[in-house]
Amino acid sequence: MKFEIASTEKISYSSDIIIIAIDNKNNLMNAVGLAQPDEVIIKNLIKKSHLGKKDFSTAVANDTSGDKQFLLARINKPEQLDVKGLNKFFNNIFQHLSTLNFKSAQICLCKFASLNELGAETVVKFYARSALHNFYKINSVKSSKSSQSSVKLIMHLNKKYLPQAKSGLVIGQAIAEGANLTKDLGNLPPNYCTPTYLGTVAKKLAKDNAMKVKVLGKAEIEKLKMGSFLSVAKGSREEPKFIVLEHLKGKKTQKPLVLVGKGITFDAGGISLKPGLNMDEMKWDMGGAATVLGVMKTIGQLKLPLNVIALIPSCENLPDGMAVKPGDVVTSMSGQTIEILNTDAEGRLILCDALTYAERYSPDSVIDVATLTGACVIALGHEASAVFSNTDDLAKELILAGEVANDRAWHMPLWDEYQPLLESNFADMANIGGRAAGSITAACFLSRFAKKYNWAHLDIAGTAWISGGKAKGSTGRPVNLLAEFLLNRTKGK
Ligand code: BES
Ligand code: MN
Ligand code: ZN
Repeated sequence: MKFEIASTEKISYSSDIIIIAIDNKNNLMNAVGLAQPDEVIIKNLIKKSHLGKKDFSTAVANDTSGDKQFLLARINKPEQLDVKGLNKFFNNIFQHLSTLNFKSAQICLCKFASLNELGAETVVKFYARSALHNFYKINSVKSSKSSQSSVKLIMHLNKKYLPQAKSGLVIGQAIAEGANLTKDLGNLPPNYCTPTYLGTVAKKLAKDNAMKVKVLGKAEIEKLKMGSFLSVAKGSREEPKFIVLEHLKGKKTQKPLVLVGKGITFDAGGISLKPGLNMDEMKWDMGGAATVLGVMKTIGQLKLPLNVIALIPSCENLPDGMAVKPGDVVTSMSGQTIEILNTDAEGRLILCDALTYAERYSPDSVIDVATLTGACVIALGHEASAVFSNTDDLAKELILAGEVANDRAWHMPLWDEYQPLLESNFADMANIGGRAAGSITAACFLSRFAKKYNWAHLDIAGTAWISGGKAKGSTGRPVNLLAEFLLNRTKGK
């Protein structure tokens, strides 16, 4: 996909598709495609296309000569357009556009750039993000490949907005390309996307973006005494990997932000085996790792002046004669012992050692991202990721970034009163806390390994992918949220 920015001063209608926005009074909101925004022409197009009255509905129609197509999009209350509305508007347009056959499309964004408080940079950022998101194709392993469409999108803007538009375009593209990497990794079958494979992806990111990388194998992980992480890997023939990827573009004195991603490349549950129905979906249990790698791609591409470290513990969770058993007690890198009561609560077992490893950076903050609990899906469904934190300000900062980026998250409690649910008669703690408050007790478990720094935990079990049906696949969330958070950090808080 190619993006072009043209100033309205030299507008020309060379594209085979013209996108126009129509308000609730059937007025045209952007003049591209019609030399004279002629009421009769617009009325005809609306009639021909059967454009609905519903906000953000889209429809297509040909003009009288038949050589141009118009994609009409409804915005009922343009003056009230907010982040959510703008995203819906662009998403519906690009979703529709992605089903059409065309070489280039044109849209005029002038009015949007000046309409509301969002500003031209944000409008163009969402535009680029939405286009790349909706034209994403799964890099499937089908033997007949569908050819990738190479289309051109031209946006028109008044000259005075061009600098803002250019930076919006660069940012939007970098975010979308990061999110598309996240989708690619998530969608890859688990026999392709192994811990070793994630390691090679990290190495490639490091090479392309001048980052530092280490991919530790089993012997090195043993040396670090990550007994909890290693216990999960015991049932698998795939070697566990611990990935360390460092983007060090901030001042030397700037404390780093550490991102930790759960990298279970397949979660069968281990000896506490999961039921068979939809078990294939547990290939997405590396969604946290994929998110972290996607975000690293985005910030690498943008050369953000920050110090950001990505840590990814990665392995499979499978049943085997050698696998860890319910009742086993393991010793984590922190020295704390854990009674494993359910081998299917494995995410926290690999994350806790990564959280201890993070201490060596004296970090500003540590944020872990994980498809951690089914209970989170019960609590929040597929709309919001859950945020837990030992620092309220950090939670607020993440949630605000999610609002702005249209990638929402919700603050969950992490009260001390929940901690006793993890008590064990045989070790410092158990790895599960029973059915009640399942996503909270998982976060409580992690909090015991994150006492030395500001820490937040994002449970993305409900947001990282879409189950079943036509849209089945990875969503690329919450790359948008984290990218926004990090962009804000470059501006100071
Ligand atoms: N990867 C799963 C969590 C999950 C389940 C994500 C369903 C998305 C959809 C995690 O490892 C897991 O199995 N968690 C258990 C924990 C339980 C045993 C305490 C769960 O949620 O059932
Ligand atoms: Mn599990
Ligand atoms: Zn899991």
